[in-house]
Amino acid sequence: MEQTLSIIKPDAVAKGVIGKIIDRFESNGLKVAAMKRLQLSRYDAGKFYAVHKDRPFFGELVEFMVSGPIVAMVLEGENAVGKNRELMGATNPKEAKPGTIRADFAESIDANAVHGSDSLENAHIEINFFFAQREII
Ligand code: CMP
Repeated sequence: MEQTLSIIKPDAVAKGVIGKIIDRFESNGLKVAAMKRLQLSRYDAGKFYAVHKDRPFFGELVEFMVSGPIVAMVLEGENAVGKNRELMGATNPKEAKPGTIRADFAESIDANAVHGSDSLENAHIEINFFFAQREII
């Protein structure tokens, strides 16, 4: 069993596809072990994406992530990190395989509907960023 962090980003929340995205996870063996809807501050968005702080897209990424509410979730299941990434599809929706969340719900590399942890180690860090242990059931 693994746990991973998933974020439904502001574009997908604004479009009203929270339920459709969660259905992809639940229909593919991932359970929602924790969930909250919130709006990030610039400080928190910058901290969450600190690994990208020297990349040219960092400023736009932070602005986009604070532009509206998001839904953060802990997904749990066998190979949860890999399975979530498979379900999301490529970072750039134009390169995402048909049937993936980004192919179906995302518009651009910035407004790409979802975020998912890229490794078990980062999943642990990202889960702890959003959730207290008592909130994960
Ligand atoms: P995410 O999985 O949330 O991780 C970092 C985000 O930066 C990524 O999804 C994209 O939305 C955004 N981003 C914007 N430009 C790029 C780029 N050139 N390469 C990678 N990520 C990018």
